[in-house]
Amino acid sequence: MHHLSRSGLSLLLVFLLGWLPIQAQAEMSARDVDLRIDTFDEIDRLFKALRFKVVNQRSTDRQGAMVYSSELVRLGYRLPDLFDHPSPREMFPQSRARPEIWNRKDRYDFLMDEFLDNLEKIHEDLSAGRMSQAGQLIDRTAQGCRRCHNTFRYR
Ligand code: HEC
Repeated sequence: MHHLSRSGLSLLLVFLLGWLPIQAQAEMSARDVDLRIDTFDEIDRLFKALRFKVVNQRSTDRQGAMVYSSELVRLGYRLPDLFDHPSPREMFPQSRARPEIWNRKDRYDFLMDEFLDNLEKIHEDLSAGRMSQAGQLIDRTAQGCRRCHNTFRYR
C-alpha cells in the first residue's frame, strides 16, 4: 500500500466509484431485456388475433378464443419481474423502455397490475361464454396498452 502515491490512491478511488453504478445497472441482463421485447411482440400478435376474433368477427367459438386468452395470461405474468431493475438505453439500445418506469414505479406498477387483471378477466368472461363482455374489456384493455406506451415507451 505504501508504494501508492497520493494521486495513485485518488485514481483508484475514482475508478472504484465510477465502477459501482455500472455494477448496479448490470443487474439487468441483455437476455432479460430481449425476453421482455419478445414477450411484448408475442402479446401484440395474440391480442390482435383475439380482438379480431371476438370484437370484429363476433365469433361464438369460446374455446378457440380461450386458446389466445390463456396464452396472454401466461405471457403477461412474465412481465413484472422483467422490469425489476433499470435498463438504461446506453447499455440496452434495443429497448424502448423509458426511465419513467423506474422514476414513477407506483404508476407503472398500477398500469401493469390493471393490465394483468384485465387479461385474467377476459379469460374468465370467455370461459363463461360472456362474449360481448369479453369484447368490451378487450377494447378497454387496448386503450390501456396505449396509455402505458404514451408515458413509458419511447416512440
Ligand atoms: C404497463 C405498461 C404497458 C402495458 C399495459 C403494455 N405495454 Fe407494451 N410495452 C411497454 C414497454 C415499457 C415497452 C418497451 C419494452 C422494451 O423495449 O424494453 C413495450 C413494448 C411493446 C411492444 C414492442 C416491443 C419493442 O420494444 O419492440 C409491443 C408490440 C407492445 N408493447 C404491445 C403491447 C400491447 C399490444 C399491449 C396491450 C395488449 C401492451 N403492449 C401493453 C409497456 C406496456
